[in-house]
Amino acid sequence: MDILKPNAVIGTNSWGSNVYGTLVRGSYVNDDVIKEAMDTARKYDLKIYDAARDYGLGKAQKMLGEFGTENIFISAKFTPTSSYKPGVVIRSFEKDLRDFKRDYVDIYWLHLPIDIEKYLNEIIGLYKSGKIRHIGVSNFNLEECMMAKKVLESENIKLYGVQNHYSIIAREWEQKGLVEWCHENDISFWAWAVLEEGMLVDPRAKTKKTIMKTIYGKQQKKLSVLYDAMIDVAEKHNISVSQVAIAFCCNKNIVPVCGCRKPNQVEELAKATMVTLTADEMKLLETAADKSGAKIMGADMFRFMVK
Ligand SMILES: NC(=O)c1ccc[n+]([C@@H]2O[C@H](COP(=O)([O-])OP(=O)(O)OC[C@H]3O[C@@H](n4cnc5c(N)ncnc54)[C@H](OP(=O)(O)O)[C@@H]3O)[C@@H](O)[C@H]2O)c1
Repeated sequence: MDILKPNAVIGTNSWGSNVYGTLVRGSYVNDDVIKEAMDTARKYDLKIYDAARDYGLGKAQKMLGEFGTENIFISAKFTPTSSYKPGVVIRSFEKDLRDFKRDYVDIYWLHLPIDIEKYLNEIIGLYKSGKIRHIGVSNFNLEECMMAKKVLESENIKLYGVQNHYSIIAREWEQKGLVEWCHENDISFWAWAVLEEGMLVDPRAKTKKTIMKTIYGKQQKKLSVLYDAMIDVAEKHNISVSQVAIAFCCNKNIVPVCGCRKPNQVEELAKATMVTLTADEMKLLETAADKSGAKIMGADMFRFMVK
């Protein structure tokens, strides 16, 4: 797998914590199942794991370190929570390395557009010392991405990617020209929550009530028109409804970051990246999504943290 052109990424947000798993996902998955999922990923040449300090309430990164990071790529993040203070990135990064039991990470993202230039400059220092192989930005709008690109290019570093929220029902970054700008500039666009935390999976499957489902219950009711379209497309390609949501992104040259924690989910993810949807099917899905009027998590969900 080429890190510059990944077909899909495994998200680790739901790994590790019993509390998080049970409340948010409706069930807890133990370490052995996750290790098996990693074996399946190896089989399908899915090598990138997306992490952050708080994922799995702090456990996900440690799990990666314990399970072994040979032959995988680690995507990690610095999450600014307030204005810049010198040394904060380095201190956080060193903790990350201890979690990963590694002396470098493959891709490091500035998680929010706060004090962009100052935080990026500290990340650039880590890049220059060889501890970071690629630099990306997450939850940035177009203007902020342009600024980040300029800061990095002033040091002859290429902006690796942009990691933002995107799914069939959340296409704001595409509509606002960010996805096109990424493609024009050979910058990878990673979509987080392509399955909308379990909302864009088969509605006929009996799943447990979770906090997310309670919060977005009203929105989910609106999705019936989209579910019909997804089921239609799924049946034509003999794939699952979740795979339609994943394939939708891949067919836009967008990298799906999928919260897999079970072997069958990894297999579904890998196989969905190989599905070609027709222009009519893509249109059908978009029209149904727009008709539903559902808005599960807006593109601006983290903006409240940005000063
Ligand atoms: N950069 C950022 O700011 C940011 C923010 C949020 C997330 N992320 C990244 O994006 C990743 C994905 O988001 P997410 O984990 O919140 O949710 P997600 O990938 O949108 O949804 C995962 C949910 O879908 C279900 N599912 C059904 N079929 C599946 C399949 N084939 N593969 C995977 N899941 C399937 C899972 O079921 P089960 O419950 O049965 O496992 C789980 O409930 C995160 O892990 C994280 O790496 C980044």
